[in-house]
Amino acid sequence: MSAPTSPIVEAAPRGILIVDLGTQYAQLIARRVREARVWCEIAPPHRALERAKDMDLAGIILSGGPASVYAEDAPEVPVELLELGVPVLGICYGLQWMCQTLGGQVNPADSREFGRASIRIENPTGVLDSIDGHTVVWMSHGDQVASIPTGFEVYASTETCPFAVIGDPARNFWGLQFHPEVTHSVRGREVIENFLVRVCAAPADWRPGSIVDREVRAVREQVGEDGEVVLGLSGGVDSSVAAVILQHAIGDRLHCVFVDNGLLRHGEREAVETLFGGHFHMDLTVVDARKEFLDALAGVSDPETKRKVIGKVFVDVFKREATRFENANFLGQGTLYPDVIESIAAHGGSTAVIKSHHNVGGLPEDLEMDLVEPLRELFKDEVREIGRHLGLGSPVVDRQPFPGPGLAVRILGEITEERCELLRRADHITTSEIEKAGEDKGLWQYFAVLLPTKSVGVMGDQRTYEDACCLRVVSSEDAMTADWAYLPQELLARISNRIINEVRGINRVVLDITSKPPGTIEWE
Ligand code: XMP
Repeated sequence: MSAPTSPIVEAAPRGILIVDLGTQYAQLIARRVREARVWCEIAPPHRALERAKDMDLAGIILSGGPASVYAEDAPEVPVELLELGVPVLGICYGLQWMCQTLGGQVNPADSREFGRASIRIENPTGVLDSIDGHTVVWMSHGDQVASIPTGFEVYASTETCPFAVIGDPARNFWGLQFHPEVTHSVRGREVIENFLVRVCAAPADWRPGSIVDREVRAVREQVGEDGEVVLGLSGGVDSSVAAVILQHAIGDRLHCVFVDNGLLRHGEREAVETLFGGHFHMDLTVVDARKEFLDALAGVSDPETKRKVIGKVFVDVFKREATRFENANFLGQGTLYPDVIESIAAHGGSTAVIKSHHNVGGLPEDLEMDLVEPLRELFKDEVREIGRHLGLGSPVVDRQPFPGPGLAVRILGEITEERCELLRRADHITTSEIEKAGEDKGLWQYFAVLLPTKSVGVMGDQRTYEDACCLRVVSSEDAMTADWAYLPQELLARISNRIINEVRGINRVVLDITSKPPGTIEWE
């Protein structure tokens, strides 16, 4: 397979370069910028200058980071970024690096500030335009600026941080000691918007319609007059939006393949058939590979082995189906921007592998097809917005995440067709009752898990000895952390009653009250 090159052949819109100096918030900064309808990209410092020169650059944001500017392993920012004639906003480490580089002084703070602080605004102009008085911000720093470079003035301060916001309006360099990107900084969005709109005069025209037009043009350019694309459609939001964009671009030269692996939720296959085959009139092939997957999973209980088996069978099935389209020389994928950003791992080393999430749906290495990735430059929120714009309804666009290995990682122990069916029915009762009660709003995921435990019960004076299932209901922002969510007691009672009455084979329902960490969202 050829290297995944960016499908975007036309120049990127005028926008902002975010230099990731090791912060955990680089993507959050980018989301804030995109929410303000301004285009942006993220680059690590060693690629920043090259990207800055390639882009139609309106301004630069230097992110925060865990290092001290004096530390040996401090990220090295190319000083030429300050010589490009565009406005620069330094956040936390970015501010400190700018000060140190331009002749100011940075020291360990006498009083470190972590968390909430109130800044007093002394000059409500520039990035603080129209922000008066005091405002609550979120601080997180051990070092702080002790003296500012020539040309800079103080715009805001706190009791312990005299240089909370500084600026040099002549050169258009600005620095914030606090984090405007986090929601705890009450007027943070306005500060970012001031930088984008007032300071950089960046065009705020990144809207769903323009994004779709741009991606459609890019796909047409890449695929050409007669190229054909095969896309693995899962029914999830990413592959669904990718499919609709591709259809807009190349019509029936798009071939969608949906693999029924026998590990789907209630009604999932039918919903995909109705929406994409029916409503959108796509060329959709539904592959019934249930037996192939279940045969390969027979006797497998270990979660990571399950993932590997499913990943391998998926590749085999998909490859077999994809190669049937003899004229298809492109493979469509719903890859998102967060998957392609090259960023500095926040604290140096790589993160431990807890679960190998990305092994499922991995691509056949030897498929000789070029990748077409119309979502490669987009964040999930943007993909949802575009999905709505393209007429994909809420059941697709707002669908809760569902893992690639499907019900396999929610059936603890061995997977059989019967156990899949038990869980499918219990899960359907759980999700439909939660949705009917309107309690799904604000939840990240809600589902049932089939446990590898039988327990004794009594039904109609008869002893039962059947399976137990568990309800897993969590709220989360990004799945990195999650809280178990509290559902009304009557709703829990209704779900429990219905599962036990309607799903023969389950006689006990329990509730998972573990947050993440220490738990994970899925049980396997
Ligand atoms: P955990 O269980 O690690 O899950 O807290 C975090 C998020 O990832 C989803 N998840 C997966 N997605 N393949 C996927 O595509 C997987 O193997 C997988 N395991 C977990 C999970 O549903 C949650 O949204």
